[in-house]
Amino acid sequence: MELLIGPFSELLSFEGLSLKGALSDEELIIQKEAGVWVKDGKVLKTGPFHDLSMEAIAQNVRISHLVTPMVVLPGFVDAHTHICFGGSRARDYAMRNAGKSYLEIARSGGGIWDSVQQTRKASKKELIADIKNRAQRHLKNGITTIEVKSGYGLNQEQELKMLEAIKEANEETDAHLISTCLAAHIFPKDFDGEKEVYLEYILSDLLPELKIQKLSNRVDIFIEDTAFEEAMSKDFLLKAKGQGFDLTVHADQFHPGGSQIAVEVGARSADHLEASRDKEVELLAKSNTIPVVLPGASMGLGEPFGPARKLLDGGASLAIASDWNPGSAPMGQLLTQAAVLGTYEKLSTAETLSALTFRAAAALGLSDRGRLVGGMLADMVAFPVGDHREILYHQGSLKPTMVWKDGKLC
Ligand code: NIG
Ligand code: FE
Repeated sequence: MELLIGPFSELLSFEGLSLKGALSDEELIIQKEAGVWVKDGKVLKTGPFHDLSMEAIAQNVRISHLVTPMVVLPGFVDAHTHICFGGSRARDYAMRNAGKSYLEIARSGGGIWDSVQQTRKASKKELIADIKNRAQRHLKNGITTIEVKSGYGLNQEQELKMLEAIKEANEETDAHLISTCLAAHIFPKDFDGEKEVYLEYILSDLLPELKIQKLSNRVDIFIEDTAFEEAMSKDFLLKAKGQGFDLTVHADQFHPGGSQIAVEVGARSADHLEASRDKEVELLAKSNTIPVVLPGASMGLGEPFGPARKLLDGGASLAIASDWNPGSAPMGQLLTQAAVLGTYEKLSTAETLSALTFRAAAALGLSDRGRLVGGMLADMVAFPVGDHREILYHQGSLKPTMVWKDGKLC
């Protein structure tokens, strides 16, 4: 299938922008009156629409003519979500806002363990339907790649149920869902043994099964004393890496420490970072681990934002993800969260949009998307405006009119 789409008022390809460090808006290459030539689900080339349309006519290639102003950019990548879950934690949210502490909420039956109970009760079919609904909402907002974690099952059977649900939902939605095993989310209250034994059980029983069933090649852990302490987490991550898994870490959410482990084990990304200090910023900047900040979790919990500005100025990369989950980040509106973060942290438009596209793709180890250049997947999002600055200005209330995944209009 071959198709020329255009003319777009502006095309943002992100070509040539570096993976790490601060970016000024002057570095953004903006092609005006541009076309995208799609072939077999990939971008064949981009360029002036007038020239490309002459070529397309000569070669009998179909042209999709746009008649209203539109800005096109690569489909967004949400590199951190927990959209496979059952039930609600509205009660936690209300209690937090009424002044109850995290511990008080957990003691009264709330917190992650509550979502584990509710998710265990859900059938695989129900989980698939919920994931598909949430993925569809993300897709309508221009998010074409979505990482999805397990982590509300916390035993062999229930973690497999979640990861199978993510796999099946992926087959039934246009968005690309990338699964991550977060069996090390918290220590399950009903496990018979110590935390170290639980981590060994994941390594010996669950992870080999994930390989056999091709359910995931990514492993995550929540490093925090209330979840898993640093030393045991490092040992767990290194052993998972030894089994061939890509690593990511819930790091520095409430206390610093996790990001250093992420760097030491060569994780693809270190996510959260609300509690990162200058020391952690420096470590991340020197490493190939991509820092992923989650403004939705900051907004959901009333915690500070991750130090996005400091990270970029220190020379680190930066991705922004939604962390969409029933507890800390129920909103799930990535563009709103990124725009608000940009306002508070003083991020250039280039930095915020890069954090949602090629830098977010890199956080997932994906080099086939996130830039609109020849050879990349034709994952694209078009907004009904003539100037790309309108997109963040509307703080997520401006919705895309067209979204393509692998060149297919969704
Ligand atoms: O990324 N920090 C740990 N995990 C999630 C919260 C999940 C939940 O509260 O259900 C997070 O914020
Ligand atoms: Fe998370």
